[in-house]
Amino acid sequence: MALRRIRRRDDFVLRKKAAKINRFTPGLLQLLDDMAETMGQAEGAGLAAPQVGISKRAIVFQNNNSGIFELVNPEIIMSKGNVTDIEGCLSLPGIYGEVPRAEHVQVIGLNREGGEVQLEAQGFLARVLQHEIDHLEGILFIDRATHLLTPDELEKLRKK
Ligand code: CO
Repeated sequence: MALRRIRRRDDFVLRKKAAKINRFTPGLLQLLDDMAETMGQAEGAGLAAPQVGISKRAIVFQNNNSGIFELVNPEIIMSKGNVTDIEGCLSLPGIYGEVPRAEHVQVIGLNREGGEVQLEAQGFLARVLQHEIDHLEGILFIDRATHLLTPDELEKLRKK
C-alpha cells in the first residue's frame, strides 16, 4: 500500500466525469488499497478516485459498523427525505458549508471482485455516499452548498 497525493481545489481532475470501471485488474486493487490508506491518514470519512488523480468510478468510505468499505461504479438507485448539514472535503481544506442532501439512500455497486453490492444508508453515511458519488460526476460540495461558513462560524464550530 502507498499514500497517494490528494488533489486540491483547482485540479482539473476533480471536475471531470469519471470513467466506468470494466476490468478488475491488480492495478484497481492497488488503487482501492491506496485510497483506503490515504483516507485513513487524512482522517477523512470518504474518498473518491478522482481525488487521488484517477478519473475512474471508485470510492472508499468509513462505515461505522464494518470499517472501511469500497464501491466500484456506485449508483444511487433510491433517495428520500431532505436534510441540511455541514460538510467539508479533503480536496477543499479549510472550507465548510451547509449542504442539503437526501436523508436516506440506497446504493448499488460492485466490490473489488466485481460482485454486486447493495447498501442502504441514512444520516451521516448517506451524506458521505452522496458526496463521494458526486465526485465521480465532477461535482464538489461547494456547488450544492446553500451557505459557506464564515471565519466566525468556523471558529464557533471548532470550539464545539
Ligand atoms: Co470530497
